[in-house]
Amino acid sequence: MVQETSRDVGPVVLLGPPGAGKGTQSKRLMEHYGIPQVSTGDLLRENVAHGTELGLAAKAVMARGELVSDDLVCNMVRERLLQPDCKRGYILDGFPRTAAQAGWLDALLEHQIFDNSRGTRTWPIVIRLDVDYNQLLLRITGRRCCPTCGRIYNVHSQPAHVYEVCDIDGSKLVTRNDDRLEVIQPRLKAYQEQTRPVADYYQRTGRLISVNGDRPVDEVTEQIYRILEDRV
Ligand code: AP5
Repeated sequence: MVQETSRDVGPVVLLGPPGAGKGTQSKRLMEHYGIPQVSTGDLLRENVAHGTELGLAAKAVMARGELVSDDLVCNMVRERLLQPDCKRGYILDGFPRTAAQAGWLDALLEHQIFDNSRGTRTWPIVIRLDVDYNQLLLRITGRRCCPTCGRIYNVHSQPAHVYEVCDIDGSKLVTRNDDRLEVIQPRLKAYQEQTRPVADYYQRTGRLISVNGDRPVDEVTEQIYRILEDRV
C-alpha cells in the first residue's frame, strides 16, 4: 500500500457506469491524497435535499434516471472547483458525463495549471472502471449509504458490522432513491448513450486509462494508486 501523501495531484477523472465503484474509490483517494472528491451526484442530491433552485430543477430528472442539463451541472462544478480546497487537485466523480461537459472541462482546465514534482500538468488523469453488467446490477441493488457521513456499503460485498447501521456514526443506512429497479435501466442507458462518447473522446486524445473494476475494492484501489503514482 502506498503511503499517504500531500503532494499536488491535479485533476483526476473517474469514469464508469452506475455502480462501477467511482464513489467508493473516490473516497479512498480523497483520504489518501488529501484532495476533495467532487461528486456531481452527491452535490445534486444535496441540492435536492435542501430544496434549492438547482435541486428543484434536478429532482424529477434524477428520479427518472436521466441526466441533468449540461448548463446546470457545469455551473455547479465551476463553483465547486473555485473553492480553495481544490487548489492541489480534486477527484471528479460522475463528471464529465456528456461530450459537451468534457469539452467544457478542457476549456476550463486550459487556464488552470497544477504544479507537481515532475513539472506541470494541466489535463486530468482519466481512469475508467470497467465492470461486468451483471455485477453492476448486483452492486446497485445491494448498495446502502449513510445519510450522515456518506459512507457507502453493500449488503453483498461490504456489509455494515451491524445490519443496516453505519459503522462510523450509528445512523440507519438508506437506499438511494434512484437505486430502484425501474430507474436502474434508464441510468445504464444514459451511460451507454451519453457517457460512452466521453470515454471515446479521452481515448482518442490518449488520456484514457482503463482499470479492471470487477476486482475486490482493495485491489481496484491498488491499481489506481499505481497509475497515479506513475504520473504525479
Ligand atoms: P451519481 O450519483 O453520479 O450516480 P452514478 O454515476 O449512477 O454512479 P453510482 O453512484 O450509482 O455508482 P458508483 O460508480 O459511484 O459506485 P459506488 O462506489 O457507489 O449520479 C446520480 C444522478 O445524478 C444521475 O443519474 C444524474 O441524474 C445526475 N448526475 C450526476 N452527475 C451528472 C452529470 N455530470 N451530468 C448530468 N447529470 C448528472 O459502488 C456501488 C456499490 O458497489 C456500493 O454498494 C459499493 O459498496 C459496491 N462496490 C464498489 N466497488 C466494489 C468492488 N470493487 N467490489 C464489490 N463491490 C463494490
